[in-house]
Amino acid sequence: MLCRQGALIAFCFSMTVILSSEEQSQFNDATPYSIMFGPDKCGSIYKIHFIIRHRNPLTGTYEEKHARQSNADLSDYFTDHMTHLYTLNLYPNNTFEILIDQTVINNGSLLKDMDPPVMPPREIEDPDDTKPFNWDDRTHISDPTVMKPDDWDEEAPRLIADPTAQKPTGWIEEEEPFVPDPEAQIPHDWSVEMDGEWEAPLIANPACANAAGCGLWKPPMVPNPAYKGKWKPPMIDNPNYQGKWQPRMIPNPVYFEDTEPFRMSPVSAVGFELWSLTGNVLFDNILLCDDLMIARRWTEDTWGQRQKPGVVERLLFATRKRPWLWGVYIFTVGLPIILAISFMWPDKDYGPPDQDYYYKKCDEPQPDDPQDAENNTGVINDGRNT
Ligand SMILES: *[C@@H]1O[C@H](CO)[C@@H](O)[C@H](O)[C@H]1NC(C)=O
Ligand SMILES: *[C@@H]1O[C@H](CO)[C@@H](O)[C@H](O)[C@H]1NC(C)=O
Repeated sequence: MLCRQGALIAFCFSMTVILSSEEQSQFNDATPYSIMFGPDKCGSIYKIHFIIRHRNPLTGTYEEKHARQSNADLSDYFTDHMTHLYTLNLYPNNTFEILIDQTVINNGSLLKDMDPPVMPPREIEDPDDTKPFNWDDRTHISDPTVMKPDDWDEEAPRLIADPTAQKPTGWIEEEEPFVPDPEAQIPHDWSVEMDGEWEAPLIANPACANAAGCGLWKPPMVPNPAYKGKWKPPMIDNPNYQGKWQPRMIPNPVYFEDTEPFRMSPVSAVGFELWSLTGNVLFDNILLCDDLMIARRWTEDTWGQRQKPGVVERLLFATRKRPWLWGVYIFTVGLPIILAISFMWPDKDYGPPDQDYYYKKCDEPQPDDPQDAENNTGVINDGRNT
Protein backbone atom coordinates (compact mmCIF):
# COMPACT_ATOMS: atom_id res chain seq x y z
CA MET A 1 0.00 0.00 0.00
CA LEU A 2 2.82 2.41 0.77
CA CYS A 3 5.47 1.42 -1.66
CA ARG A 4 4.83 0.38 -5.20
CA GLN A 5 7.88 1.51 -7.08
CA GLY A 6 9.43 -1.64 -8.43
CA ALA A 7 12.84 -3.14 -8.03
CA LEU A 8 14.67 -0.35 -6.26
CA ILE A 9 12.86 -1.00 -3.02
CA ALA A 10 15.08 -2.34 -0.32
CA PHE A 11 12.50 -2.70 2.37
CA CYS A 12 9.23 -1.11 3.20
CA PHE A 13 7.11 -1.74 6.21
CA SER A 14 4.70 0.08 8.31
CA MET A 15 2.56 -0.62 11.27
CA THR A 16 -1.12 -0.88 10.71
CA VAL A 17 -3.67 -0.52 13.45
CA ILE A 18 -6.90 -2.06 12.38
CA LEU A 19 -10.43 -1.21 13.20
CA SER A 20 -12.57 -3.81 14.85
CA SER A 21 -12.37 -7.30 16.24
CA GLU A 22 -14.62 -8.87 13.58
CA GLU A 23 -12.15 -7.86 10.93
CA GLN A 24 -9.30 -9.70 12.56
CA SER A 25 -10.43 -13.01 11.14
CA GLN A 26 -10.10 -11.67 7.60
CA PHE A 27 -7.12 -9.45 8.23
CA ASN A 28 -5.36 -8.61 4.98
CA ASP A 29 -3.73 -5.68 3.24
CA ALA A 30 -7.12 -4.19 2.37
CA THR A 31 -8.33 -4.18 5.98
CA PRO A 32 -9.18 -0.62 6.94
CA TYR A 33 -6.95 0.91 9.57
CA SER A 34 -7.21 3.73 12.06
CA ILE A 35 -3.56 4.70 12.19
CA MET A 36 -0.73 3.76 9.92
CA PHE A 37 2.62 4.55 11.39
CA GLY A 38 6.16 3.50 10.67
CA PRO A 39 9.25 3.71 8.50
CA ASP A 40 9.18 3.29 4.75
CA LYS A 41 12.22 3.08 2.51
CA CYS A 42 11.68 3.13 -1.21
CA GLY A 43 14.96 3.39 -3.09
CA SER A 44 16.68 6.35 -1.52
CA ILE A 45 13.45 7.95 -0.28
CA TYR A 46 13.14 7.67 3.46
CA LYS A 47 9.82 8.35 5.10
CA ILE A 48 8.16 7.95 8.44
CA HIS A 49 4.46 7.65 7.74
CA PHE A 50 1.76 8.81 10.05
CA ILE A 51 -1.62 8.44 8.39
CA ILE A 52 -5.03 8.38 9.99
CA ARG A 53 -8.29 7.30 8.47
CA HIS A 54 -10.71 9.93 9.59
CA ARG A 55 -14.47 9.45 9.63
CA ASN A 56 -16.50 12.26 8.16
CA PRO A 57 -19.37 12.61 10.67
CA LEU A 58 -21.73 13.96 8.00
CA THR A 59 -21.32 11.26 5.39
CA GLY A 60 -19.83 8.46 7.48
CA THR A 61 -17.10 7.98 4.87
CA TYR A 62 -13.43 7.63 5.74
CA GLU A 63 -10.61 9.67 4.28
CA GLU A 64 -6.85 9.26 4.68
CA LYS A 65 -5.09 12.19 6.31
CA HIS A 66 -1.32 12.22 6.00
CA ALA A 67 1.08 13.99 8.29
CA ARG A 68 3.56 16.07 6.36
CA GLN A 69 6.98 14.44 6.07
CA SER A 70 9.63 15.86 8.32
CA ASN A 71 12.51 17.87 6.90
CA ALA A 72 14.98 16.03 9.11
CA ASP A 73 17.63 13.92 7.37
CA LEU A 74 16.51 10.38 8.16
CA SER A 75 19.04 8.54 6.00
CA ASP A 76 21.21 7.49 8.96
CA TYR A 77 18.36 5.59 10.54
CA PHE A 78 17.73 3.68 7.34
CA THR A 79 21.29 2.90 6.38
CA ASP A 80 23.12 2.20 9.65
CA HIS A 81 22.02 -1.46 9.86
CA MET A 82 20.90 -0.91 13.45
CA THR A 83 17.48 -1.41 14.99
CA HIS A 84 15.58 1.71 15.93
CA LEU A 85 12.74 2.69 18.18
CA TYR A 86 9.86 4.38 16.36
CA THR A 87 7.44 6.28 18.56
CA LEU A 88 4.24 8.15 17.86
CA ASN A 89 2.87 10.32 20.66
CA LEU A 90 -0.70 11.54 20.27
CA TYR A 91 -1.91 14.10 22.78
CA PRO A 92 -5.44 15.11 23.79
CA ASN A 93 -4.69 18.63 22.56
CA ASN A 94 -4.60 17.15 19.02
CA THR A 95 -0.86 17.44 18.66
CA PHE A 96 1.43 14.60 17.68
CA GLU A 97 5.12 13.88 17.93
CA ILE A 98 7.11 11.34 15.95
CA LEU A 99 10.34 10.13 17.49
CA ILE A 100 13.12 7.86 16.37
CA ASP A 101 15.28 6.57 19.19
CA GLN A 102 13.60 9.11 21.48
CA THR A 103 14.59 12.06 19.27
CA VAL A 104 11.68 14.09 17.91
CA ILE A 105 11.91 14.12 14.11
CA ASN A 106 8.46 15.48 13.33
CA ASN A 107 5.60 17.08 15.20
CA GLY A 108 2.45 18.91 14.39
CA SER A 109 -1.22 19.37 14.95
CA LEU A 110 -3.93 17.03 13.72
CA LEU A 111 -6.05 20.09 13.05
CA LYS A 112 -3.46 22.08 11.11
CA ASP A 113 -0.73 19.81 9.79
CA MET A 114 -2.53 16.95 8.07
CA ASP A 115 -2.98 16.71 4.34
CA PRO A 116 -5.78 16.99 3.38
CA PRO A 117 -6.96 18.85 6.49
CA VAL A 118 -9.10 16.86 8.89
CA MET A 119 -11.84 19.47 8.75
CA PRO A 120 -13.04 20.76 5.38
CA PRO A 121 -12.88 24.53 4.83
CA ARG A 122 -15.69 26.48 6.45
CA GLU A 123 -16.36 28.45 3.26
CA ILE A 124 -15.94 27.57 -0.40
CA GLU A 125 -16.12 29.57 -3.63
CA ASP A 126 -19.66 29.73 -4.95
CA PRO A 127 -19.67 27.50 -8.05
CA ASP A 128 -22.75 29.40 -9.37
CA ASP A 129 -21.10 32.80 -9.22
CA THR A 130 -19.90 34.03 -12.60
CA LYS A 131 -17.72 36.92 -13.62
CA PRO A 132 -19.83 40.00 -14.59
CA PHE A 133 -19.41 40.78 -18.30
CA ASN A 134 -18.25 44.32 -17.56
CA TRP A 135 -15.71 43.36 -14.91
CA ASP A 136 -12.57 45.35 -15.71
CA ASP A 137 -9.51 43.27 -14.78
CA ARG A 138 -7.06 45.06 -17.08
CA THR A 139 -4.24 46.34 -14.88
CA HIS A 140 -2.97 48.69 -17.62
CA ILE A 141 -4.66 50.54 -20.49
CA SER A 142 -3.29 52.72 -23.27
CA ASP A 143 -3.27 56.40 -22.31
CA PRO A 144 -6.36 57.91 -24.01
CA THR A 145 -5.03 61.48 -23.66
CA VAL A 146 -1.94 60.97 -25.81
CA MET A 147 -2.42 61.29 -29.58
CA LYS A 148 -0.18 60.23 -32.42
CA PRO A 149 2.26 63.09 -33.24
CA ASP A 150 1.54 64.70 -36.64
CA ASP A 151 5.04 64.02 -37.91
CA TRP A 152 4.86 60.33 -37.06
CA ASP A 153 4.98 58.56 -40.45
CA GLU A 154 3.79 54.99 -39.93
CA GLU A 155 4.34 54.29 -43.63
CA ALA A 156 8.10 55.03 -43.72
CA PRO A 157 9.78 51.75 -44.76
CA ARG A 158 12.25 50.02 -42.45
CA LEU A 159 14.91 49.78 -45.21
CA ILE A 160 15.75 52.13 -48.07
CA ALA A 161 18.21 52.03 -50.97
CA ASP A 162 21.49 53.47 -49.76
CA PRO A 163 21.40 57.06 -51.17
CA THR A 164 25.19 57.38 -50.91
CA ALA A 165 25.95 54.23 -52.91
CA GLN A 166 27.31 54.69 -56.46
CA LYS A 167 27.29 52.29 -59.37
CA PRO A 168 30.84 50.89 -59.59
CA THR A 169 32.81 51.98 -62.62
CA GLY A 170 33.05 49.24 -65.22
CA TRP A 171 29.52 47.99 -64.52
CA ILE A 172 27.87 46.99 -67.82
CA GLU A 173 24.12 47.40 -67.45
CA GLU A 174 23.28 46.42 -71.02
CA GLU A 175 24.85 42.94 -70.67
CA GLU A 176 23.09 40.18 -68.72
CA PRO A 177 25.22 38.37 -66.12
CA PHE A 178 24.12 34.99 -67.51
CA VAL A 179 23.44 34.01 -71.12
CA PRO A 180 22.33 30.77 -72.82
CA ASP A 181 25.25 28.51 -73.63
CA PRO A 182 25.77 28.95 -77.40
CA GLU A 183 27.47 25.56 -77.62
CA ALA A 184 24.64 23.64 -76.02
CA GLN A 185 22.76 21.26 -78.31
CA ILE A 186 19.22 20.10 -78.04
CA PRO A 187 19.34 16.48 -76.78
CA HIS A 188 18.44 14.00 -79.50
CA ASP A 189 15.63 12.43 -77.50
CA TRP A 190 14.05 15.81 -76.58
CA SER A 191 10.34 15.84 -77.39
CA VAL A 192 8.73 19.26 -77.53
CA GLU A 193 5.31 17.66 -76.84
CA MET A 194 6.54 15.85 -73.75
CA ASP A 195 9.29 18.12 -72.43
CA GLY A 196 8.23 21.56 -73.64
CA GLU A 197 10.29 24.14 -75.54
CA TRP A 198 14.02 23.38 -75.19
CA GLU A 199 16.16 26.13 -73.64
CA ALA A 200 19.92 26.14 -73.60
CA PRO A 201 21.42 26.09 -70.04
CA LEU A 202 22.71 29.45 -68.77
CA ILE A 203 26.42 30.17 -68.43
CA ALA A 204 28.28 33.19 -67.06
CA ASN A 205 28.28 35.92 -69.68
CA PRO A 206 31.83 35.98 -71.19
CA ALA A 207 31.33 39.72 -71.92
CA CYS A 208 31.25 40.31 -68.14
CA ALA A 209 34.42 38.39 -67.34
CA ASN A 210 36.42 41.56 -66.72
CA ALA A 211 33.54 43.88 -65.74
CA ALA A 212 32.71 44.99 -62.16
CA GLY A 213 29.25 43.55 -62.75
CA CYS A 214 26.51 43.15 -65.32
CA GLY A 215 22.78 43.70 -65.49
CA LEU A 216 20.63 46.17 -63.68
CA TRP A 217 22.64 47.77 -60.84
CA LYS A 218 20.80 48.23 -57.55
CA PRO A 219 22.14 50.16 -54.59
CA PRO A 220 22.31 48.12 -51.32
CA MET A 221 19.48 48.53 -48.78
CA VAL A 222 20.25 50.34 -45.49
CA PRO A 223 18.11 51.08 -42.39
CA ASN A 224 15.84 54.05 -42.96
CA PRO A 225 16.60 56.85 -40.46
CA ALA A 226 13.01 58.08 -40.87
CA TYR A 227 11.54 54.68 -39.98
CA LYS A 228 9.20 54.86 -36.94
CA GLY A 229 6.89 51.89 -37.30
CA LYS A 230 3.38 51.72 -35.93
CA TRP A 231 2.61 54.35 -33.33
CA LYS A 232 1.48 53.00 -29.97
CA PRO A 233 0.10 55.11 -27.15
CA PRO A 234 1.91 54.75 -23.79
CA MET A 235 0.35 52.42 -21.19
CA ILE A 236 -0.93 53.76 -17.91
CA ASP A 237 -2.47 52.16 -14.81
CA ASN A 238 -6.12 51.43 -15.45
CA PRO A 239 -8.06 53.83 -13.19
CA ASN A 240 -11.10 51.51 -13.36
CA TYR A 241 -9.17 48.35 -12.47
CA GLN A 242 -11.41 46.20 -10.30
CA GLY A 243 -8.88 43.57 -9.36
CA LYS A 244 -8.81 39.90 -10.28
CA TRP A 245 -12.31 38.56 -10.16
CA GLN A 246 -13.03 35.92 -7.59
CA PRO A 247 -16.27 34.11 -6.98
CA ARG A 248 -17.95 34.99 -3.72
CA MET A 249 -17.49 32.67 -0.78
CA ILE A 250 -20.43 30.68 0.54
CA PRO A 251 -20.70 28.40 3.58
CA ASN A 252 -19.37 24.95 2.69
CA PRO A 253 -22.45 22.66 2.54
CA VAL A 254 -20.36 19.64 3.60
CA TYR A 255 -18.56 21.43 6.40
CA PHE A 256 -18.29 19.57 9.66
CA GLU A 257 -16.54 20.20 12.87
CA ASP A 258 -14.36 17.64 14.56
CA THR A 259 -12.32 19.40 17.18
CA GLU A 260 -11.06 16.12 18.66
CA PRO A 261 -9.59 14.08 15.80
CA PHE A 262 -7.09 12.62 18.30
CA ARG A 263 -9.85 10.32 19.49
CA MET A 264 -9.46 8.25 16.30
CA SER A 265 -11.59 5.33 15.23
CA PRO A 266 -11.62 2.45 17.71
CA VAL A 267 -8.50 0.30 17.70
CA SER A 268 -8.58 -3.37 18.52
CA ALA A 269 -5.55 -4.92 16.87
CA VAL A 270 -2.12 -4.18 15.59
CA GLY A 271 -0.69 -5.54 12.36
CA PHE A 272 2.25 -5.08 10.05
CA GLU A 273 2.26 -4.22 6.43
CA LEU A 274 5.62 -5.55 5.43
CA TRP A 275 7.28 -5.71 2.08
CA SER A 276 10.98 -6.27 1.86
CA LEU A 277 13.40 -7.40 -0.80
CA THR A 278 16.27 -7.62 1.67
CA GLY A 279 16.68 -9.96 4.57
CA ASN A 280 17.55 -9.15 8.15
CA VAL A 281 14.64 -6.86 8.84
CA LEU A 282 13.80 -7.33 12.50
CA PHE A 283 11.08 -6.01 14.73
CA ASP A 284 9.70 -6.76 18.13
CA ASN A 285 8.07 -5.16 21.14
CA ILE A 286 5.09 -3.17 19.98
CA LEU A 287 3.46 -1.12 22.68
CA LEU A 288 0.19 0.75 22.38
CA CYS A 289 -0.86 2.53 25.55
CA ASP A 290 -2.43 5.68 26.92
CA ASP A 291 0.16 6.56 29.54
CA LEU A 292 3.37 8.25 28.49
CA MET A 293 5.10 7.25 31.75
CA ILE A 294 4.42 3.56 31.12
CA ALA A 295 5.71 3.94 27.59
CA ARG A 296 8.89 5.60 28.81
CA ARG A 297 9.55 3.00 31.51
CA TRP A 298 8.91 0.19 29.07
CA THR A 299 11.27 1.84 26.58
CA GLU A 300 13.99 1.99 29.25
CA ASP A 301 13.51 -1.68 30.10
CA THR A 302 13.64 -2.93 26.51
CA TRP A 303 15.24 -0.80 23.85
CA GLY A 304 17.06 1.29 26.44
CA GLN A 305 18.93 -1.75 27.73
CA ARG A 306 20.58 -2.28 24.38
CA GLN A 307 21.48 1.34 23.78
CA LYS A 308 24.46 2.01 25.98
CA PRO A 309 27.25 2.39 23.45
CA GLY A 310 30.59 3.25 24.95
CA VAL A 311 32.60 6.30 23.95
CA VAL A 312 34.73 4.29 21.53
CA GLU A 313 31.71 2.72 19.83
CA ARG A 314 30.14 6.11 19.37
CA LEU A 315 33.35 7.57 17.93
CA LEU A 316 33.67 4.65 15.53
CA PHE A 317 30.03 4.98 14.49
CA ALA A 318 30.56 8.64 13.69
CA THR A 319 33.23 7.74 11.11
CA ARG A 320 30.73 5.81 9.00
CA LYS A 321 29.25 9.01 7.72
CA ARG A 322 32.35 11.19 8.12
CA PRO A 323 35.45 9.15 7.29
CA TRP A 324 37.62 12.25 7.71
CA LEU A 325 37.03 11.89 11.44
CA TRP A 326 39.70 9.19 11.32
CA GLY A 327 42.17 12.00 10.62
CA VAL A 328 40.95 13.89 13.65
CA TYR A 329 41.16 10.81 15.85
CA ILE A 330 44.67 9.92 14.73
CA PHE A 331 45.76 13.50 15.18
CA THR A 332 44.25 13.94 18.64
CA VAL A 333 45.32 10.54 19.93
CA GLY A 334 48.51 10.05 17.95
CA LEU A 335 50.11 13.47 18.29
CA PRO A 336 50.36 13.55 22.11
CA ILE A 337 51.90 10.08 22.04
CA ILE A 338 54.53 11.11 19.52
CA LEU A 339 55.28 14.29 21.46
CA ALA A 340 55.55 12.40 24.73
CA ILE A 341 57.99 9.91 23.25
CA SER A 342 60.14 12.59 21.70
CA PHE A 343 60.35 14.57 24.94
CA MET A 344 60.94 11.62 27.23
CA TRP A 345 63.58 9.79 25.19
CA PRO A 346 65.25 12.34 22.97
CA ASP A 347 68.64 10.58 22.97
CA LYS A 348 67.32 7.21 21.95
CA ASP A 349 65.22 8.74 19.26
CA TYR A 350 67.87 10.75 17.49
CA GLY A 351 71.11 8.96 18.38
CA PRO A 352 73.63 9.33 21.19
CA PRO A 353 74.97 12.90 21.59
CA ASP A 354 78.56 11.70 22.27
CA GLN A 355 78.90 10.72 18.60
CA ASP A 356 80.21 13.53 16.39
CA TYR A 357 77.40 12.98 13.84
CA TYR A 358 74.85 13.79 16.49
CA TYR A 359 73.72 17.38 16.40
CA LYS A 360 70.44 19.15 16.13
CA LYS A 361 69.35 21.45 13.36
CA CYS A 362 69.54 24.45 15.66
CA ASP A 363 73.18 23.81 16.69
CA GLU A 364 76.10 25.84 15.31
CA PRO A 365 77.10 24.72 11.81
CA GLN A 366 79.71 21.96 11.95
CA PRO A 367 82.68 21.59 9.60
CA ASP A 368 82.37 18.83 7.03
CA ASP A 369 84.78 15.90 6.95
CA PRO A 370 88.34 17.27 6.63
CA GLN A 371 88.86 15.84 3.14
CA ASP A 372 85.51 17.08 1.80
CA ALA A 373 86.09 20.44 3.46
CA GLU A 374 89.46 20.84 1.69
CA ASN A 375 88.02 19.99 -1.72
CA ASN A 376 85.08 22.29 -1.27
CA THR A 377 87.28 25.16 -0.11
CA GLY A 378 89.54 24.68 -3.12
CA VAL A 379 86.65 24.96 -5.50
CA ILE A 380 85.31 28.06 -3.84
CA ASN A 381 88.76 29.70 -3.81
CA ASP A 382 89.26 28.88 -7.47
CA GLY A 383 86.01 30.57 -8.22
CA ARG A 384 86.95 33.65 -6.27
CA ASN A 385 90.42 33.94 -7.80
CA THR A 386 89.33 33.90 -11.41
C1 LIG B 1 -0.02 19.40 23.86
O1 LIG B 1 0.07 18.56 24.96
C2 LIG B 1 1.37 18.04 25.22
C3 LIG B 1 1.27 17.06 26.37
O2 LIG B 1 0.57 17.60 27.41
C4 LIG B 1 2.32 19.20 25.54
O3 LIG B 1 3.63 18.71 25.75
C5 LIG B 1 2.33 20.15 24.34
O4 LIG B 1 3.11 21.27 24.63
C6 LIG B 1 0.91 20.58 24.00
N1 LIG B 1 1.00 21.33 22.76
C7 LIG B 1 0.32 22.43 22.55
C8 LIG B 1 0.55 23.08 21.23
O5 LIG B 1 -0.44 22.90 23.38
C1 LIG C 1 6.67 21.27 17.41
O1 LIG C 1 7.92 21.45 18.05
C2 LIG C 1 8.33 22.80 18.11
C3 LIG C 1 9.73 22.82 18.70
O2 LIG C 1 9.80 22.08 19.88
C4 LIG C 1 7.33 23.62 18.92
O3 LIG C 1 7.74 24.96 18.95
C5 LIG C 1 5.96 23.50 18.28
O4 LIG C 1 4.99 24.16 19.09
C6 LIG C 1 5.57 22.05 18.13
N1 LIG C 1 4.34 21.99 17.37
C7 LIG C 1 3.25 21.43 17.85
C8 LIG C 1 2.07 21.53 16.98
O5 LIG C 1 3.22 20.87 18.94
